[in-house]
Amino acid sequence: MSGIDYSEKIPNNVNLANDRTLQRALEHWQPHFLDWWTGMGPSDFQKSDVYLRTATSVDAQGWATYGTVKMPDYRWGIFLADPVAERKIGFGDNMGQPAWQQVPGEFRSTLRRLIVTQGDTEPASVEQQRLLGHTCPSLYDLRNLFQVNVEEGRHLWAMVYLLHAYFGRDGREEAEELLVRHSGDADKPRILTTFNEPISDWLSFYCFTYFTDRDGKYQLKSLAESAFDPLSRTCRFMLTEEAHHMFVGETGIARVVKRTLEVMKELGTDDPAKIRAAGAVDLPLLQKYLNFWCSSSLDLFGSEISSNAASSFANGLKGRPDESQYEDHVLRSVQLKLDTPQGPQDVPMLNALNEVMRESYLKDCEIGLKRWNRQIERAGFSFRLALPSTRFRRSIGSWVGLPVDPTGKLLPREEFDKRLHEWIPSEADRAFVRSLMQRVVEPGKMAGWVAPPERGINNLPVEYEYVKLN
Ligand SMILES: [Fe+2]
Ligand SMILES: [Fe+2]
Repeated sequence: MSGIDYSEKIPNNVNLANDRTLQRALEHWQPHFLDWWTGMGPSDFQKSDVYLRTATSVDAQGWATYGTVKMPDYRWGIFLADPVAERKIGFGDNMGQPAWQQVPGEFRSTLRRLIVTQGDTEPASVEQQRLLGHTCPSLYDLRNLFQVNVEEGRHLWAMVYLLHAYFGRDGREEAEELLVRHSGDADKPRILTTFNEPISDWLSFYCFTYFTDRDGKYQLKSLAESAFDPLSRTCRFMLTEEAHHMFVGETGIARVVKRTLEVMKELGTDDPAKIRAAGAVDLPLLQKYLNFWCSSSLDLFGSEISSNAASSFANGLKGRPDESQYEDHVLRSVQLKLDTPQGPQDVPMLNALNEVMRESYLKDCEIGLKRWNRQIERAGFSFRLALPSTRFRRSIGSWVGLPVDPTGKLLPREEFDKRLHEWIPSEADRAFVRSLMQRVVEPGKMAGWVAPPERGINNLPVEYEYVKLN
């Protein structure tokens, strides 16, 4: 079951050949996907040979093989993690009952909305990143960008499979719409704001893969708990691929920090102006990028108090990430104390699940911060990077629009407005970062603002020609 059939037009491990109607519908969608990829995917590199991994099995060990492929020939397909025998619902009011193999009528529209919202983010991120290849800091990075892009394309396939297989005609219509909305489009934007922000430089790309792909990880983890078994299996396999995206972010930022520290040592200064003049990213500037992307990604978890989150959990549609680590899986009699602008407030735990998820996400975000700060400490500098307060720059929930600084302190509006660009990149900061984005495509060479990675891909040397630009 875990092996993937690559002789089919659409590689899959769901026995697509046994369901002719579904197979035909997906084969009809396939050329639309390819049109979208050529029109909205990475600009200009469709003829390049790229060293990419492709899923060949869904086993935990050795699930991918590596090889050179032109991106439009990538074998996008439908891969679900193996079923768990007699899987039971692990939380909510129906806990202990058998997981659903079909969509229950009463949850149809809510489940469809969850799947469409998840699905929409996948092609959105490819669109956001489509011009980045032109300014790649190395062939190694260029390859990583394309790996992330083709896998987000595959995640779109994962959600489209669920829509086609379980939601009939509305599902097929939603699958078409996923190719019609575009990131940043004035008339038909992507569903979530963060996925309409352009990613026009590589510092933003590293921050996006660190913070926003990590939001993806937490969404997938909570959907992997779903009582709707096909959704659970789909998300469990997507998580395997997602890990690499966050690796690109974490190591990318670590390499920026490393290079900056080298420059700081060479010049014997931490003066941002001198570091910028030497073509590196000063640490306060990096902090602004972290503030921007972290706060933007925090909005993706929704309001702290949410009746939708409560009913999705109670009904078994969406659990907490790593549900099994908790003791109480029903949550009908627990409260959570939330900090609101009006003071602490006791809220039924069920209604506060977005906040629970946001907190576990932030804990996961801290891991990279600790590593980067250790690098800085070892180099003998006192600067420390930090995550912004969850109240900073909220555009959703009880702290929405309030003038709160990154430490969580409420300021007079005037002071907040005046100081905002101490905390997030100003136009001048962004222009400086853009000025660093010079394309480097000689194998093994790196742009001056980022250190080389510690190792190459799949045991190959860093100097390997990961992308052959034909
Ligand atoms: Fe994804
Ligand atoms: Fe991702």
